Amino acid sequence: MERLDKIIASQGKYSRSEVKKLIKGGRVTVDGALPKNGDVKIDPATAEIKIDGEGLNYKKHIYIMMNKPQGVISASNDKSQKTVVDLVPKELLRDGLFPAGRLDADTTGFVLITDDGDFAHRILSPKNHIMKTYHATLADALTQEDIVRFKNGLTLGDGTECLEAHVRVLESGKKNIAEIKICEGKYHQVKRMFASIGNKVLELRRVRMGELDLDEGLAEGECREITAQELERITSGACHTEKGL
Ligand code: URA
Repeated sequence: MERLDKIIASQGKYSRSEVKKLIKGGRVTVDGALPKNGDVKIDPATAEIKIDGEGLNYKKHIYIMMNKPQGVISASNDKSQKTVVDLVPKELLRDGLFPAGRLDADTTGFVLITDDGDFAHRILSPKNHIMKTYHATLADALTQEDIVRFKNGLTLGDGTECLEAHVRVLESGKKNIAEIKICEGKYHQVKRMFASIGNKVLELRRVRMGELDLDEGLAEGECREITAQELERITSGACHTEKGL
Protein backbone atom coordinates (compact mmCIF):
# COMPACT_ATOMS: atom_id res chain seq x y z
CA MET A 1 0.00 0.00 0.00
CA GLU A 2 1.27 3.44 -0.93
CA ARG A 3 0.11 7.03 -0.65
CA LEU A 4 -2.13 8.12 -3.51
CA ASP A 5 -0.21 11.36 -4.14
CA LYS A 6 3.09 9.47 -4.28
CA ILE A 7 1.68 6.91 -6.69
CA ILE A 8 0.46 9.57 -9.12
CA ALA A 9 3.65 11.64 -8.88
CA SER A 10 5.81 8.52 -9.43
CA GLN A 11 4.43 8.19 -12.96
CA GLY A 12 6.24 11.36 -13.97
CA LYS A 13 3.49 13.32 -15.70
CA TYR A 14 2.60 15.53 -12.74
CA SER A 15 4.79 17.17 -10.10
CA ARG A 16 3.97 16.71 -6.42
CA SER A 17 2.35 20.14 -6.21
CA GLU A 18 0.30 19.49 -9.35
CA VAL A 19 -0.88 16.19 -7.87
CA LYS A 20 -1.97 17.99 -4.71
CA LYS A 21 -4.04 20.42 -6.78
CA LEU A 22 -5.57 17.62 -8.85
CA ILE A 23 -6.72 15.79 -5.73
CA LYS A 24 -7.96 18.96 -4.01
CA GLY A 25 -9.79 19.96 -7.17
CA GLY A 26 -11.74 16.69 -7.16
CA ARG A 27 -10.21 15.58 -10.46
CA VAL A 28 -8.91 12.25 -9.11
CA THR A 29 -11.05 9.21 -8.34
CA VAL A 30 -10.05 5.91 -6.75
CA ASP A 31 -12.36 3.01 -7.59
CA GLY A 32 -14.97 5.57 -8.60
CA ALA A 33 -14.89 7.56 -5.35
CA LEU A 34 -13.30 10.89 -4.52
CA PRO A 35 -10.39 10.48 -2.10
CA LYS A 36 -10.41 12.78 0.94
CA ASN A 37 -6.77 13.72 0.44
CA GLY A 38 -3.48 12.57 -1.03
CA ASP A 39 -2.26 10.57 1.92
CA VAL A 40 -4.84 7.79 1.63
CA LYS A 41 -3.05 4.48 1.22
CA ILE A 42 -4.00 2.28 -1.68
CA ASP A 43 -2.61 -0.64 -3.65
CA PRO A 44 -1.61 0.74 -7.06
CA ALA A 45 -1.69 -2.75 -8.57
CA THR A 46 -5.40 -3.22 -7.91
CA ALA A 47 -7.02 0.21 -7.37
CA GLU A 48 -8.48 2.00 -10.36
CA ILE A 49 -7.09 5.52 -10.28
CA LYS A 50 -8.54 8.03 -12.74
CA ILE A 51 -7.59 11.62 -13.46
CA ASP A 52 -10.27 13.66 -15.21
CA GLY A 53 -11.95 10.34 -15.96
CA GLU A 54 -8.90 8.82 -17.62
CA GLY A 55 -7.14 5.76 -16.18
CA LEU A 56 -3.69 6.39 -14.73
CA ASN A 57 -2.12 3.31 -16.37
CA TYR A 58 0.17 2.79 -13.39
CA LYS A 59 3.57 1.25 -14.00
CA LYS A 60 5.88 0.41 -11.14
CA HIS A 61 8.91 0.83 -13.38
CA ILE A 62 9.71 2.09 -16.81
CA TYR A 63 12.16 0.65 -19.36
CA ILE A 64 13.31 2.81 -22.25
CA MET A 65 15.35 1.97 -25.35
CA MET A 66 17.45 4.89 -26.58
CA ASN A 67 19.51 5.28 -29.73
CA LYS A 68 22.34 7.26 -28.16
CA PRO A 69 24.05 9.83 -30.34
CA GLN A 70 27.75 10.71 -30.13
CA GLY A 71 28.77 13.33 -27.59
CA VAL A 72 26.14 12.34 -25.01
CA ILE A 73 27.29 10.64 -21.83
CA SER A 74 25.75 7.56 -20.19
CA ALA A 75 24.79 9.16 -16.89
CA SER A 76 21.70 10.61 -15.20
CA ASN A 77 22.95 14.15 -14.77
CA ASP A 78 26.12 16.08 -15.31
CA LYS A 79 27.13 19.70 -14.76
CA SER A 80 28.70 20.28 -18.14
CA GLN A 81 27.77 17.49 -20.55
CA LYS A 82 24.48 16.35 -21.98
CA THR A 83 23.36 12.96 -20.61
CA VAL A 84 21.12 10.21 -22.01
CA VAL A 85 18.50 11.07 -19.36
CA ASP A 86 18.50 14.69 -20.59
CA LEU A 87 17.27 13.30 -23.93
CA VAL A 88 14.28 11.40 -22.49
CA PRO A 89 11.06 13.17 -23.57
CA LYS A 90 8.73 14.56 -20.92
CA GLU A 91 6.09 11.85 -21.33
CA LEU A 92 8.60 9.12 -20.39
CA LEU A 93 10.48 11.09 -17.77
CA ARG A 94 10.22 10.18 -14.10
CA ASP A 95 12.38 10.35 -10.98
CA GLY A 96 15.24 7.93 -10.60
CA LEU A 97 16.00 7.20 -14.28
CA PHE A 98 19.51 6.01 -15.06
CA PRO A 99 21.27 4.11 -17.86
CA ALA A 100 21.64 0.38 -17.13
CA GLY A 101 25.17 0.04 -18.47
CA ARG A 102 27.38 2.57 -20.14
CA LEU A 103 28.47 3.43 -23.62
CA ASP A 104 31.43 5.74 -24.20
CA ALA A 105 30.58 9.31 -25.19
CA ASP A 106 31.67 8.61 -28.78
CA THR A 107 29.82 5.27 -29.03
CA THR A 108 26.31 5.32 -30.49
CA GLY A 109 23.37 2.96 -30.27
CA PHE A 110 21.33 0.96 -27.79
CA VAL A 111 21.20 2.24 -24.22
CA LEU A 112 18.62 0.92 -21.78
CA ILE A 113 17.31 3.55 -19.38
CA THR A 114 15.21 2.56 -16.39
CA ASP A 115 14.25 3.36 -12.81
CA ASP A 116 14.40 -0.34 -11.85
CA GLY A 117 17.60 -0.85 -9.86
CA ASP A 118 17.01 -4.57 -9.34
CA PHE A 119 16.60 -5.20 -13.05
CA ALA A 120 19.74 -3.20 -13.87
CA HIS A 121 21.67 -5.11 -11.24
CA ARG A 122 20.48 -8.39 -12.72
CA ILE A 123 21.56 -7.61 -16.27
CA LEU A 124 24.85 -5.98 -15.28
CA SER A 125 25.99 -8.52 -12.71
CA PRO A 126 29.17 -10.26 -13.94
CA LYS A 127 27.58 -13.58 -12.97
CA ASN A 128 24.67 -13.01 -15.27
CA HIS A 129 25.93 -10.75 -18.02
CA ILE A 130 23.81 -10.47 -21.11
CA MET A 131 25.27 -10.61 -24.56
CA LYS A 132 25.87 -7.26 -26.22
CA THR A 133 26.33 -6.91 -29.95
CA TYR A 134 28.30 -4.09 -31.54
CA HIS A 135 29.14 -2.97 -35.05
CA ALA A 136 32.58 -1.46 -35.39
CA THR A 137 34.40 0.33 -38.17
CA LEU A 138 38.07 -0.61 -37.84
CA ALA A 139 41.24 1.01 -39.10
CA ASP A 140 42.42 -2.30 -40.55
CA ALA A 141 40.67 -5.31 -42.05
CA LEU A 142 39.70 -8.15 -39.76
CA THR A 143 41.67 -11.35 -40.34
CA GLN A 144 40.86 -15.01 -39.76
CA GLU A 145 43.55 -15.01 -37.09
CA ASP A 146 41.79 -12.15 -35.25
CA ILE A 147 38.57 -14.16 -35.18
CA VAL A 148 40.39 -17.07 -33.54
CA ARG A 149 42.09 -14.80 -31.01
CA PHE A 150 38.74 -13.27 -29.98
CA LYS A 151 37.29 -16.77 -29.65
CA ASN A 152 40.16 -18.00 -27.48
CA GLY A 153 39.85 -15.03 -25.10
CA LEU A 154 42.04 -11.97 -25.55
CA THR A 155 44.41 -10.50 -23.01
CA LEU A 156 44.19 -6.71 -22.88
CA GLY A 157 47.21 -4.41 -22.70
CA ASP A 158 47.09 -4.25 -18.89
CA GLY A 159 46.94 -8.04 -18.56
CA THR A 160 43.15 -8.25 -18.09
CA GLU A 161 41.82 -11.48 -19.55
CA CYS A 162 38.63 -11.42 -21.58
CA LEU A 163 36.08 -14.15 -21.99
CA GLU A 164 35.47 -15.78 -25.35
CA ALA A 165 33.98 -13.29 -27.80
CA HIS A 166 32.64 -13.59 -31.32
CA VAL A 167 33.74 -11.34 -34.13
CA ARG A 168 32.97 -11.54 -37.84
CA VAL A 169 33.00 -9.40 -40.95
CA LEU A 170 29.50 -8.07 -41.61
CA GLU A 171 29.69 -7.84 -45.42
CA SER A 172 32.26 -9.74 -47.43
CA GLY A 173 33.29 -6.65 -49.40
CA LYS A 174 34.08 -4.57 -46.31
CA LYS A 175 36.56 -6.41 -44.15
CA ASN A 176 37.06 -3.48 -41.79
CA ILE A 177 33.42 -3.45 -40.66
CA ALA A 178 32.89 -6.05 -37.96
CA GLU A 179 30.21 -7.41 -35.70
CA ILE A 180 31.38 -8.17 -32.15
CA LYS A 181 29.48 -10.08 -29.48
CA ILE A 182 30.71 -9.87 -25.90
CA CYS A 183 29.35 -11.02 -22.58
CA GLU A 184 31.23 -8.60 -20.37
CA GLY A 185 31.22 -4.88 -19.77
CA LYS A 186 34.79 -3.92 -19.01
CA TYR A 187 35.78 -0.29 -19.39
CA HIS A 188 36.28 0.56 -23.12
CA GLN A 189 36.21 -3.17 -23.71
CA VAL A 190 35.71 -3.38 -27.46
CA LYS A 191 38.21 -0.62 -28.18
CA ARG A 192 40.78 -2.24 -25.90
CA MET A 193 40.19 -5.68 -27.42
CA PHE A 194 41.00 -4.38 -30.89
CA ALA A 195 43.93 -2.33 -29.54
CA SER A 196 45.35 -5.54 -28.05
CA ILE A 197 45.57 -7.08 -31.53
CA GLY A 198 47.06 -3.94 -33.07
CA ASN A 199 43.87 -2.65 -34.69
CA LYS A 200 41.83 0.48 -33.87
CA VAL A 201 38.10 1.09 -33.53
CA LEU A 202 37.15 4.19 -35.52
CA GLU A 203 33.40 4.01 -34.91
CA LEU A 204 31.38 1.90 -32.53
CA ARG A 205 27.65 1.27 -32.30
CA ARG A 206 25.72 -1.06 -29.99
CA VAL A 207 22.97 -2.71 -32.01
CA ARG A 208 21.59 -5.38 -29.68
CA MET A 209 21.23 -6.22 -25.98
CA GLY A 210 20.52 -9.85 -25.24
CA GLU A 211 18.14 -10.96 -28.00
CA LEU A 212 16.65 -7.50 -28.51
CA ASP A 213 17.68 -5.40 -31.52
CA LEU A 214 17.86 -1.63 -31.39
CA ASP A 215 14.70 -0.37 -33.10
CA GLU A 216 15.80 0.86 -36.53
CA GLY A 217 12.94 3.35 -36.50
CA LEU A 218 14.63 5.34 -33.75
CA ALA A 219 16.75 8.20 -35.04
CA GLU A 220 19.82 9.08 -32.98
CA GLY A 221 18.70 10.80 -29.80
CA GLU A 222 15.25 9.22 -29.92
CA CYS A 223 13.84 6.67 -27.52
CA ARG A 224 10.74 4.64 -26.81
CA GLU A 225 9.35 2.48 -24.07
CA ILE A 226 10.22 -1.22 -24.14
CA THR A 227 7.35 -3.72 -23.83
CA ALA A 228 7.34 -6.53 -21.26
CA GLN A 229 7.97 -9.10 -24.03
CA GLU A 230 10.92 -7.09 -25.32
CA LEU A 231 12.33 -6.88 -21.83
CA GLU A 232 12.31 -10.67 -21.67
CA ARG A 233 14.28 -10.77 -24.91
CA ILE A 234 17.01 -8.77 -23.20
CA THR A 235 17.32 -11.15 -20.27
CA SER A 236 16.96 -14.27 -22.42
CA GLY A 237 20.24 -13.22 -24.05
CA ALA A 238 22.17 -13.93 -20.84
CA CYS A 239 25.54 -15.64 -21.23
CA HIS A 240 25.28 -18.50 -18.81
CA THR A 241 28.48 -20.38 -19.32
CA GLU A 242 31.74 -19.71 -17.52
CA LYS A 243 33.46 -19.19 -20.85
CA GLY A 244 31.09 -16.52 -22.03
CA LEU A 245 29.22 -17.34 -25.20
N1 URA B 1 33.27 -1.06 -25.67
C1 URA B 1 33.87 0.13 -25.82
O1 URA B 1 35.06 0.20 -26.02
N2 URA B 1 33.10 1.22 -25.73
C2 URA B 1 31.78 1.20 -25.52
O2 URA B 1 31.15 2.25 -25.46
C3 URA B 1 31.17 -0.06 -25.37
C4 URA B 1 31.94 -1.18 -25.44
